[in-house]
Amino acid sequence: MSLGWRMATSFKDVDLYDYPEYYDIIFDDGTSEEADFLEAIFAEYGRPKTQRLLEPACGTGRLLIELAKRGYEAHGFDDSEAMLKHGERRARGAVTLSCQRMESFQLKGKFDAAYSLISSFKYLLTEESALAHLQRVAACLKPGGLFVLGLHLSDYDRNRPVHERWVVDRGGQRVICNTRTWPADRKRRRERVRNRLRIEAQDSSKKLHESSWEFRTYDASQLRRLLKKVPELTLVASYDFAYDLTVPRELDDSQEDIVLVLRR
Ligand SMILES: C[S@@+](CC[C@H](N)C(=O)[O-])C[C@H]1O[C@@H](n2cnc3c(N)ncnc32)[C@H](O)[C@@H]1O
Repeated sequence: MSLGWRMATSFKDVDLYDYPEYYDIIFDDGTSEEADFLEAIFAEYGRPKTQRLLEPACGTGRLLIELAKRGYEAHGFDDSEAMLKHGERRARGAVTLSCQRMESFQLKGKFDAAYSLISSFKYLLTEESALAHLQRVAACLKPGGLFVLGLHLSDYDRNRPVHERWVVDRGGQRVICNTRTWPADRKRRRERVRNRLRIEAQDSSKKLHESSWEFRTYDASQLRRLLKKVPELTLVASYDFAYDLTVPRELDDSQEDIVLVLRR
């Protein structure tokens, strides 16, 4: 058996967030479109001048860096040192990052808007931690400030895994990303997610990375019940991951992706 074959068939167990360089390759593609959407949301629903932004669980700060380029004052935090270090290198002082957790973060000053777009919120595995996060975000927003929260809802009747695959070429590397989400467990409020990356370099060497984690699950009514416990935040609109402001949608179970616009 050749070494090449063995490498091609065995995935190494890793934490996705310990490899920020590959994270950025696979997620950076949509950054400019997400920033356009956020700016449109700020203009439509936000304070008269939205300037000071916060991204909880900002990862490498890819979105903060884009928004800083567009003239915003960009602040973020994450609990992964590796993601933050990579972000600091990329941002070259243009954004302010700190190592903190969503359920317990503390920051100075108030923000015009906060956002968290791609299901990071679901890493908060208990109702208490999710609630603590929403309350903390609400407390650090100025009156009329927004929290734009995007996540995948769970269909508890689905009994097969959902699979997503995409491929990105960048800097001489090809990264093939396969994500699998197993059916949600209604009782435990959990779903298992697995991410597999196949990283191919120009010299034909390959790396195979696998990471797995659990998310807390929400259907529309569970999310509504949680939001009711945070009266400081009012739901003013919802959209989906098409990020199209001309196509609002209801917070219901008709589709799995949802972006909530919550106002302080
Ligand atoms: C899917 S990534 C999203 C990163 C970034 N928001 C983006 O859009 O690229 C999820 C991030 O959540 C962070 N994270 C997970 N649990 C966290 C917690 N309890 N507090 C702070 N960050 C957390 C991870 O380290 C990771 O960087």
